Amino acid sequence: MKKEFVCLMAAGIMAGVSATAVASNGPETINLKEKYSVTGKKPAVIFPHKIHQGKLKCVECHTSDKGGTLKLKIEKIKGMSNDFHKKFCWPCHVEKKVPKGKSCSTCHKKK
Ligand code: HEC
Ligand code: HEC
Ligand code: HEC
Repeated sequence: MKKEFVCLMAAGIMAGVSATAVASNGPETINLKEKYSVTGKKPAVIFPHKIHQGKLKCVECHTSDKGGTLKLKIEKIKGMSNDFHKKFCWPCHVEKKVPKGKSCSTCHKKK
């Protein structure tokens, strides 16, 4: 218990010094379908978190450089005009000119 607390403290301090502190970067990939309990027929989007961290500052997506809370509150998750498409993933892919950034199979990969 005490040891865990010390570890958390250390991670917090490291994150304060460097935004790239490994301990606080969160998961390498995130299953967004699962995380947001999306129901639908499209293959689950496994978000490559680590790849994005290599290219972007945390605050381009999160409210702070420690990550955690997203800047945008994802509310609409159903259908084609869901918030991921319209407000989060697509606008940035267009802005950054990501190759095939709006192709369905870039994000909805069949297993
Ligand atoms: C940049 C990433 C990205 C691209 C490109 C993308 N989507 Fe999505 N889409 C998402 C995310 C994230 C979700 C929500 C999480 C999930 O469903 O896994 C989602 C959800 C959906 C949903 C609602 C959930 C469901 O299964 O019915 C549909 C429908 C959908 N997408 C269709 C498409 C189609 C069609 C295309 C191509 C025109 C496309 N998407 C391209 C990221 C993307
Ligand atoms: C391109 C956007 C993007 C960037 C850049 C990004 N993240 Fe994330 N991050 C996400 C998404 C999307 C999630 C998962 C969705 C959610 O938490 O609601 C997430 C989740 C996390 C989580 C887990 C939160 C939880 O509740 O499980 C942590 C921790 C985190 N990010 C830290 C970071 C840090 C630190 C950086 C910078 C080094 C960073 N992220 C950069 C998009 C991003
Ligand atoms: C703030 C900008 C930004 C946001 C928001 C963003 N992306 Fe990206 N994404 C990028 C950039 C930049 C690349 C190109 C990375 C590279 O080429 O290394 C990329 C690449 C990708 C790739 C291809 C990775 C590969 O294997 O080369 C996938 C898949 C992807 N994004 C999914 C998503 C999904 C899903 C979301 C929303 C949940 C999202 N992105 C939100 C900027 C963003």
